[in-house]
Amino acid sequence: LALELFQRGRRRFGFLQGERAGQPLDLPQDFSPSEIPQRIAGAGKALPPRCFHRHEQLPPLPRPQRDGVGADVAPQFEQPAQISPAQHGLIIPVVHPLDDPETYRILDRSGMAQLVVRFPEMAEEIWQSAMRLKLPSADDATAIVVLGMGGSGVGGDLLLSLLAPTFPVPVIVVKDRRVPAFVGPQSLVFACSFSGETEETLAAYEMAKDAGAPAVVISSGGALASLAAQRGDPVVALPPGLPPRAAVPYLFLPMVSALRRLTHMGELSGEWAEARGVLAALIEEVGPSARAERNPAKRLAGRLAGHLPAVYASSPTLAAAAYRWKCQFNENSKTLALWNTFPELTHNETVGWEDEALARQIAVVLLREPDEEPAVARRVIATREVAFGAAVSVDEVRARGNSRLARLLSLVLFGDFVSVYLAILRGVDPTPVARIEEIKRRLAAS
Ligand code: PA5
Repeated sequence: LALELFQRGRRRFGFLQGERAGQPLDLPQDFSPSEIPQRIAGAGKALPPRCFHRHEQLPPLPRPQRDGVGADVAPQFEQPAQISPAQHGLIIPVVHPLDDPETYRILDRSGMAQLVVRFPEMAEEIWQSAMRLKLPSADDATAIVVLGMGGSGVGGDLLLSLLAPTFPVPVIVVKDRRVPAFVGPQSLVFACSFSGETEETLAAYEMAKDAGAPAVVISSGGALASLAAQRGDPVVALPPGLPPRAAVPYLFLPMVSALRRLTHMGELSGEWAEARGVLAALIEEVGPSARAERNPAKRLAGRLAGHLPAVYASSPTLAAAAYRWKCQFNENSKTLALWNTFPELTHNETVGWEDEALARQIAVVLLREPDEEPAVARRVIATREVAFGAAVSVDEVRARGNSRLARLLSLVLFGDFVSVYLAILRGVDPTPVARIEEIKRRLAAS
């Protein structure tokens, strides 16, 4: 009977066995319930087994409720129809680990999942306050230059993806201590560093200022805010104490808001109104309180666990989102990840997929637009067929909304959740970035 009940749980919840592309699954290949605590213990964070599997006596259900157990609304417990009271002790009701608040309490100690939930709230807050910012004139700007590293630089990547299709001047993202030689009085510079202490951003900001560029600083303080005060530049002051990557709305949206005011991009205000609604709906759908059975972000994390994620944007307009996914897998999930963009990847990276032994370890995620041009869709489909045959799985995530802003932010938010869920499934705390800090420490001491 125990075996039968175990198999029923396996069939019912689908998370005890692996899934190939296109079939439902929550956890990776070869996972068994007893393994999860071991995996976590292997990462140095042993959990009591009851965090995941509650062995409880269930009272027999009255007939109408019992019939409803199979419905989507109440799938928590497997309740065989015909069992004697004595056999109840053998029932293994299962709560998916990503649905169990206890899992987050133990593993997500600094609350990264809740910071991701706050994404729309942060976005709204900074959008409103950036509207009040006093800005340098940029009417004759011939380039927008964004300085920033890591979690503080990704806002620049998002800005580039957002503006490239329509903006009349180029956006350049600088992730180095030196700015390009063209930077001068006609470049509008955004210097972004959450801590305000990042060596490269400080050096690049000083170099841009020495070249006569007008600038806006986005930071929670540090040396960058002090330098901005000396130079008389406006500062978007961020609340301190967040991991920079969790503050991406704070780091990205002030630039959008500022450019809307400085140029003739009036439509972006409407875009934010749409993005706000899209993000709020996504939180309901893929946030921690949406159950794994119907939560596509949790299910995707399950398919990625144990494999190397490869995140491919279907077009350059989504490149920043794919890069963000990759960085969040690195920093939150503590795993390596690949990223690339169509159509360029079809001219080189696809050949690497000929190494099937390696390809069998890779789980592909395609980030796509809801309304791609036929030429784009044809290329993605052909590449799936020709190159990704050996992949563990191929998933597609479609951007939400009509505006480019909503689409980019919806993919970023979705990916942020996937990365946190993947961290949990890997048994790691999403927040610490020990190796980044260690490298900074060593360089500061040298
Ligand atoms: O996520 C991180 O912690 C890093 O990528 C940092 O953002 C990066 O090192 C730059 O630091 P800061 O964001 O403080 O400028």
